[in-house]
Amino acid sequence: MLTSTRILLIIGGGIAAFKSLDLIRRLRERGAAVTPVLTRAGTEFVTPLSVSALAGHKVFQHLFDLTDESDMGHIELSRSADLIVVAPATADLMAKMAGGQADDLASTLLLATDTPVLIAPAMNVRMWEHPATQRNIATLKDDGILFVGPNDGDMACGEHGPGRMSEPLEIVAAIEAALAGQETGVKGPMAGRHVLVTSGPTHEPIDPVRYIANRSSGAQGSAIGAALAALGATVTFITGPADVPPPAGVKVVRVETAQQMQAAVNAALPADAAVFAAAVADWRVASAGTSKIKKQDGALPVLEFAENPDILAQVAQMRAGRPGLVVGFAAETDDVLANATAKRARKGCDWIVANDVSAQTGIMGGAENAVTLITAEGAQSWPRMGKDAVARQLASRIAEALTGAQ
Ligand code: CTP
Repeated sequence: MLTSTRILLIIGGGIAAFKSLDLIRRLRERGAAVTPVLTRAGTEFVTPLSVSALAGHKVFQHLFDLTDESDMGHIELSRSADLIVVAPATADLMAKMAGGQADDLASTLLLATDTPVLIAPAMNVRMWEHPATQRNIATLKDDGILFVGPNDGDMACGEHGPGRMSEPLEIVAAIEAALAGQETGVKGPMAGRHVLVTSGPTHEPIDPVRYIANRSSGAQGSAIGAALAALGATVTFITGPADVPPPAGVKVVRVETAQQMQAAVNAALPADAAVFAAAVADWRVASAGTSKIKKQDGALPVLEFAENPDILAQVAQMRAGRPGLVVGFAAETDDVLANATAKRARKGCDWIVANDVSAQTGIMGGAENAVTLITAEGAQSWPRMGKDAVARQLASRIAEALTGAQ
């Protein structure tokens, strides 16, 4: 139920706007109060009259509408909701949000607010896949904007693919989840704690077009970032080029190389805890140049390597400003327990999460993980479970260690 929840619903200009009429009905059925905002393009698809009739509330349309300003200024309007929902969120509206533009009521409200924002994108598949839109999506996710959809399917324009706006009931479910997340965020045991998480592989350049990488997908790191954020932590998520998107609601810092990751970690300190889930390359090519290495008759290139900084060891061994809890991972293929226990001592971290990444386990790049948590008290093996479940269990152990909360 959404009893006494205040939703500011921004309806953008797309054919999916007709579904927003049903969304209003569904929200009101659940007890939410809906304040509608219609963009100029939105009025081409639904009328202000039908929106206000369904919402049982006046529709806000114009930035310089004096009556609106005297009723309630746009700043106040943007902050008077528990959640701002943009449905449909068009490519244009997303571009405005990503660029911080404020040239109409909807974009001004979105820029002026510190209320959480959930968007339901809807657009033609080519527009969704365009690099400009993909860039904007990444920016918006980095800014902590929550997404629902789009779905794959047939579109009004006759094409097929991602771009269909989520169905009203899917949007309602996402609204409920966003509000629940907010609640745990405010009341969670990790509220007010800063946790730094590294994730994904690193890419070490050989030359401008080639690099050395590893099979890490970033799935376990992303799940840990999400689980910590769900407990209310402020998370700085430093990620190499991963396959899995970063979690919502965290500060994302994207890097490529181990050296960049180290710089980003140092810039993000201080932290109450640090979790090093990244699969950092141990070596980089010493002489990676700015010119592409060309084939030469018969002569094979020889790469020389230099050792990368050990980020985990550097942070774990800090004399001043060390995070209260430093957690490392040990990806091993042989003698997992012995190697991981030795690694904990060598690197100086408090905990090591050890896992067997031999090819037959399917863990690296897979959805499941089987870990052993090694602390000063000893080793505890957890049953094989989804990476999300491992992340939740680890996050609650971290919360317990930092705050005494279960
Ligand atoms: N790590 C790091 N910086 C590095 C290498 C590793 O921060 N340059 C961190 C990883 O994020 C992980 C832990 O150290 O938390 C262990 O990584 P792993 O690759 O298993 O250990 P290595 O130091 O590479 O040890 P070895 O090669 O002997 O297995």
